[in-house]
Amino acid sequence: MPAYRAPRGTRDLLPDERIAWARLERLAAEISGRYGYRPIETPMFEQSAVYERGLGEATDAVEKELFRLAPRTEDGEVWALRPEPTAGIVRAYIQHGMQTWPQPVKVAITGPMFRYDRPQAGRFRQFWQFDVEAIGDPGPAVDAEIVELGLRFYREAGLPDVEVRLNSIGDPACRPAYLEDLVAYYRAHLDALPAFERGRLDRNPLRLLDSKDPAMAELNAAAPRIVDRLCDACGDHFAGVLRHLDALGIAYRLEPGLVRGLDYYTRTAMEFYRPGADGQQSALGGGGRYDGLVELLGGRPTPGIGFGLGLDRVMLELQGLGASEARIAGPLAVVVGVDPDATVERLTLATTLRAAGLRARAELGRRKLGRQLEAASKEGAHFAVILGGDGTDGSPELRDGHVELRDLQAGTQRSVASADLVRELTRADETHQHG
Ligand code: HAM
Repeated sequence: MPAYRAPRGTRDLLPDERIAWARLERLAAEISGRYGYRPIETPMFEQSAVYERGLGEATDAVEKELFRLAPRTEDGEVWALRPEPTAGIVRAYIQHGMQTWPQPVKVAITGPMFRYDRPQAGRFRQFWQFDVEAIGDPGPAVDAEIVELGLRFYREAGLPDVEVRLNSIGDPACRPAYLEDLVAYYRAHLDALPAFERGRLDRNPLRLLDSKDPAMAELNAAAPRIVDRLCDACGDHFAGVLRHLDALGIAYRLEPGLVRGLDYYTRTAMEFYRPGADGQQSALGGGGRYDGLVELLGGRPTPGIGFGLGLDRVMLELQGLGASEARIAGPLAVVVGVDPDATVERLTLATTLRAAGLRARAELGRRKLGRQLEAASKEGAHFAVILGGDGTDGSPELRDGHVELRDLQAGTQRSVASADLVRELTRADETHQHG
């Protein structure tokens, strides 16, 4: 057992996985760019109040899972690691006066998030999200566009069967009356409520609807549904979202019990799953509209919508399908030599090749030529550049200004003037990549 290990709920991404990961990051940047979302970066920690106010004090993400940072700063600020990016982005929107920019402001971010949750399969304490936000557009067309964008990301990442589940959770005009009905319903069945659910009935009754407790299944199936209680404005909005999705030919599943875990949501709520998957823990992504959040954090009333897609879970699904194999290209050339001690010559030549933009490595160890060549082959190098002649005269210098160029893949070898080496390797690289 090593003395130190990565903290529970975190993972090291070793090079093979990091490369597959980078492919997802590039895809996220490319697709969001295609839809007009521009990159943004916000700090990985904020004043805790940004999350407490933004996400809601009674949410799991704040109440149980917020990574609060100690100690406090001199000026009494309390910080927390970001559990999600939306609140920080909205904070930045207000701070930088983005309401004066052309609306909507469409931004995308991909990076690690932190929740002090109980680690289990697919649930980490540090996890990655690909997140987009469109702030300043009341919808409903942009809601449909965002759903379609999410599905496209999964499809192009290699998960074509991901489905979206949709609901509308109303707004401050219609939700309070609905919540009263909901609480009254649960109160009428108090005996059937598990203790944990009873405890949050007053604080966050909506959450009971997507309880994981099997004892709640029957009760929830018969509970009043918010989609049946939407005010006209919310009902029209939701119908508008569905109409745009229908026009795009996007299939969706209406899920009256879908309520989301953060308090800022209004109207459209979405979650992404593989078919048959259930429970928050297997959600590959989620999002929705947050028309009150900008105002809640001190800005002018401004509508917004976005999603966060869980890259760890996407990667796990891809691995499950055997579709995440990363191919790390070996170097184009490894500079090896007859004289094990001639590290200066080998390093100098490799530096020249790299300055010309070629992927090259020098053998910097002091092992025999045979071993050097073996290592180059093992790492998938295309060529070995051999210094010191053909391996028989033992001189560390280039013989007559020539080096031996061995094609490790074809098993051929020829002498090349060192002045021509960059040109030869560049040409080989281009044929290799495009030929
Ligand atoms: P969320 O549903 O809390 O929404 O998280 C979005 C996604 O992040 C989840 O569906 C899941 O794939 C992934 N995720 C969440 N927690 C974990 C975890 N502990 N381990 C691994 N993956 C996890 C939000 O965060 C909202 N900010 C989304 C949003 C953006 N809404 C509007 N704009």
